Amino acid sequence: MYFKTNWFPVLLSAVIVLAIADAVWDHYDASGTSTTSAADCWTGAGPNQIPVDANGAMIRYGRDLIANTSFYLGPKGTVMHISNGMNCQNCHLEAGTKPWGNNYGAVASTYPKFRERSGRKESIEKRVNDCIERSLNGRAIDSSSKEMRAIAAYIKWLGKEVPMGSKPKGSGIMELTYLSRAADPANGKTVYVAYCERCHGKNGEGQINIDNAGYAYPPLWGNNSYNSGAGLFRLSRLAGYVKNNMPNPLNYHNPELTDEESWDVAAYINSQPRPTHDLSKDWPRIAGKPFDHPFGPYADTFSEMQHKYGPFAEIVKAGKKSK
Ligand code: HEC
Ligand code: HEC
Repeated sequence: MYFKTNWFPVLLSAVIVLAIADAVWDHYDASGTSTTSAADCWTGAGPNQIPVDANGAMIRYGRDLIANTSFYLGPKGTVMHISNGMNCQNCHLEAGTKPWGNNYGAVASTYPKFRERSGRKESIEKRVNDCIERSLNGRAIDSSSKEMRAIAAYIKWLGKEVPMGSKPKGSGIMELTYLSRAADPANGKTVYVAYCERCHGKNGEGQINIDNAGYAYPPLWGNNSYNSGAGLFRLSRLAGYVKNNMPNPLNYHNPELTDEESWDVAAYINSQPRPTHDLSKDWPRIAGKPFDHPFGPYADTFSEMQHKYGPFAEIVKAGKKSK
């Protein structure tokens, strides 16, 4: 009879089905990519979590400036014309929220902080202007401008739950293991042609959007790319970024390139022409330069060539010894 139905097996199977579904959802995202250990990596909150109030409006504008920088601040920008047409998000993926996607997970928790490059304590605003002047090959904007206040509000909001002073796992760019040889631009060219050229172009020029206001595929070298003072001009930054994020879209669970291919393609890209930046005031303490800073003078006796392409292990070892 209907009321005598034993619901136990029905409930049990429902529980099992849900548990299996949950396990599946837990471990694979919509594209079927494994996200099993994503929980231990910092991932930034999405736009839907931004509060709906006046502060939220600033945070939302900040996020938009980071995702669509060129629309607002590019050569045909609606607010100012101070940058090269790239977006912050081209390098700080998913508006700076993606694990190992050069995200902003450690910014709110570690700034203001002392940086060797400038030899002083830097605010978030100063650090953002550094990227505008170097990565976007542009002109710094006023800290009191609505745009800078919005960008800082967004970055602080993103990192608000990270304990002060800590750097969460998955934040920034992953450090790859060093090769025992120098990275090889010729090898890198082969990697570039096989994996990158179809989007970033034969001459690294990228592809402009149909609306002409930004890039569908951002440039990797040439006049419209990051300049010689930018973070990506250091080989370890570029190789670590590429390994976990390119060819786009890709996440760190499923890299397509080996570490070796990543170092080599980075060497190829950073051996191509790009705008230069006045570095004369950088690194007031020469011994504070990172191992892969590609311009001398250095506190050690390794050549500029070796500081640019490696092998790096012996440079790092010598640096540790002298400290
Ligand atoms: C061409 C690539 C590129 C673009 C475009 C770019 N950045 Fe960066 N940014 C970097 C790299 C590389 C670093 C250094 C990461 C490292 O050292 O691990 C960095 C560092 C930062 C940091 C400090 C992160 C930290 O944890 O210390 C902030 C904040 C930042 N960028 C903001 C911005 C903003 C805002 C924009 C747009 C106005 C922007 N960046 C555009 C590449 C870029
Ligand atoms: C399917 C197209 C595609 C392929 C293939 C691809 N990329 Fe990208 N790349 C992109 C897009 C799109 C972005 C910007 C991502 C964003 O804004 O969300 C990007 C951003 C970048 C950036 C940071 C921004 C810049 O212009 O400096 C670098 C560096 C980069 N790619 C290197 C590579 C390398 C190296 C390869 C080959 C291993 C590669 N890409 C393959 C589409 C691609």
